[in-house]
Amino acid sequence: MAKKKSILDFHNMKKKGEKVAWITAYDYPMASFAEQAGMDMILVGDSLGMVVLGYEGTVPVTMDDCISHCKAVRRGAPNTFIVGDMPFGSYHTTDADAVANAVRFLKEANCDAIKLEGGVRVASRIKAIADAGIVVIGHIGLTPQSAGVLGGFKAQGLYVDSARALIKDALAVQEAGALALLLEAVPPELTEFIAKKLTIPVYSIGAGLPCDGQLIICGDMLGMFQAFTPKFVKKYANVAEVITNAFKEYVDDVKAERFPEDKHVYHAKDSKEDFEKLFQEFN
Ligand code: KIV
Repeated sequence: MAKKKSILDFHNMKKKGEKVAWITAYDYPMASFAEQAGMDMILVGDSLGMVVLGYEGTVPVTMDDCISHCKAVRRGAPNTFIVGDMPFGSYHTTDADAVANAVRFLKEANCDAIKLEGGVRVASRIKAIADAGIVVIGHIGLTPQSAGVLGGFKAQGLYVDSARALIKDALAVQEAGALALLLEAVPPELTEFIAKKLTIPVYSIGAGLPCDGQLIICGDMLGMFQAFTPKFVKKYANVAEVITNAFKEYVDDVKAERFPEDKHVYHAKDSKEDFEKLFQEFN
């Protein structure tokens, strides 16, 4: 079994040009598959709101939802670096609230780090959490919790003015004490510049190749999440089809009494006659 990586390992990997593979997971089985596959890192994203809870966005997700899913993921992946995602509202009021909520991820769910969305505007939150001794991962670009303000789930930094703002955000995140940064849905040209400019590792979800590693959402890459598929997703499987077909076959088997078969039942150990006597006691 590979040793669990730490944030220092991720910094060393950046120095050596070794790429980090991370994925989201929200429950015990997915986490254990990720660990068995040798994933470097798991994000228990607040995307769980859409992928497993059926909300239209991430805003309704609560701290208790996140903690409960992080605990399940930790049980499934005891030897993998796990990042808890701070949900909308958990760091939007005060630095003190942000620290208190970040602490819950470590104390209650045994996470290794937290992630939060935003750049310059959340710099004081990042600093407060980092000062509390917690590994913080920043997240800028397409930040789903602010989809309303961004006008939807849209790529960011496509023009010089918005790219300039993102470079300032990236620098602010590093300066505030974050130990890694995730870029979402920005052009690879900008990703490359930011990844070279920052000393902390810079990861991509929909931000192209030239950085220190990639994140993908398990529901998207497995073909389980059907509401929509972002352009940046590579589908590695069509699990929705596999599951739906299996369910259909089961429905047909039940209706036609093809299931359960003899091999699926527990036969009585006492004789048929003994059982008949028993049934007569109740007639
Ligand atoms: O919640 C999540 O899975 C995320 C990714 C979209 C980066 O934050």
